[in-house]
Amino acid sequence: MDKIIIEGGKPLKGTVKISGAKNAALPIIAACLLTGGWHRLHNVPHLKDIQTTKRIMSKLGVVFRDDNNTLEVNSDNLRSHEAPYDLVKTMRASILLLGPLLARYGRAKISLPGGCAIGERPVNLHLKALVSMGVDIRLDHGYIIAQVDRLKGANIFFDTPTVTGTENIMIAAVKAKGQTVLRNTAKEPEIQDLANMLRSMGADIEGDGTDTIVIHGVDNLRPTQHTIMPDRIEAGTFMIAAAITKGDIKIQGCRPEHVGALIEKLEPAGARIQVSDDTIFVKGPDIIKSVDIKTMPFPGFPTDLQAQFMTLMCIAKGRSLIRETVFENRFIHVSELKRMGADIEINGSQALIKGKGYLLSAPVMATDLRASASLILAGLVAKDGRTEVNRIYHLDRGYEALEKKFVNLGATIWREKG
Ligand code: EPU
Repeated sequence: MDKIIIEGGKPLKGTVKISGAKNAALPIIAACLLTGGWHRLHNVPHLKDIQTTKRIMSKLGVVFRDDNNTLEVNSDNLRSHEAPYDLVKTMRASILLLGPLLARYGRAKISLPGGCAIGERPVNLHLKALVSMGVDIRLDHGYIIAQVDRLKGANIFFDTPTVTGTENIMIAAVKAKGQTVLRNTAKEPEIQDLANMLRSMGADIEGDGTDTIVIHGVDNLRPTQHTIMPDRIEAGTFMIAAAITKGDIKIQGCRPEHVGALIEKLEPAGARIQVSDDTIFVKGPDIIKSVDIKTMPFPGFPTDLQAQFMTLMCIAKGRSLIRETVFENRFIHVSELKRMGADIEINGSQALIKGKGYLLSAPVMATDLRASASLILAGLVAKDGRTEVNRIYHLDRGYEALEKKFVNLGATIWREKG
């Protein structure tokens, strides 16, 4: 298994270009199933999760053409409606195939995603919404087996805002008969990116970005071209990298309005931040101040940046309280950070970090995607020797060319093949 080695302690300086967003690309590639013809997607990041999506969709009969970061998708000759366990178990977002398969074929058989390192992560709200759209759903030997003659519009209230749940049902409703109203929806920017793509195919959607989305079903859609939005979590990770290494980084090709909650916390921590249209400049402070955060659905502080922010608080002066409200088990990075000298106490969904002003290098193990990023950040600032981050395959699921981008910013970081 590959590992990443870091010799920390260097301030990172220079410019980094942000890649396309994984969590926007995944539903958008799935939405290409809605109609035949060649769809052309730009700014698609090279990531393991994108490869997994392509492998699953290839099994369905979808054909891809790949050129740099442009991906063309054609589903003229679908031959299957089944997403098998061996692939779904490696990527929960495979559930996003349910909505488009039902919209196009009225049938889908998808392995029920299990829990994962960060929590139980049920899909009950996806299924409940589909049932109210007329879908017959049964669970059989670990598979979701879903069938419908034609999806019908419905009034759906999500008990809790769910990102992929909103996306799945939005995609399904695009071709349903009549009007679908989704309430208490997630407001993440990735949902708006998907809605923009669907509208360019001819869908009738309003309200994305708010908590109520109204969709009027249409009979015909056309293939489209779309550019995937920049990855706000990658941008946020580099912003924290600038702060933690006392560096000075220009983060280019991002959307400052997508990282507002992080800016609100990094400034009181001492970072100097300037934004222009698609660029954020972050200069790290000499002394990082402690700040409390509470993760929330967008526009709140993203759970996907909680681990990285915790690393920053480990080297702050003072105590900081981090509350995780989105997932029930998203503190697995804590025991690894402790191996690097961090002083963190966990009490249920709260973590109290007693910042010491430093971390020490150590061999550590990545446990999920964002936890991996937090350990890389820890390695970039750690004193006395080399940090070795093992099980780096998690990182490859969601960060495009991360170590190359850090090398360009002056970090001493490399990958060892294992
Ligand atoms: N939930 C339910 N029932 C459902 C669906 C969700 O109870 O049917 C609960 C979840 O257990 C959780 C909360 O609702 O407590 C929110 O979960 P959500 O459904 O919004 O998460 P998701 O759609 O599975 C996406 C991202 C995650 C990100 C979360 C929260 C994708 C492919 N994944 O997951 O990204 O953390 O939203 O913003 O978009 C990552 O990129 O590292 C990652 C984990």
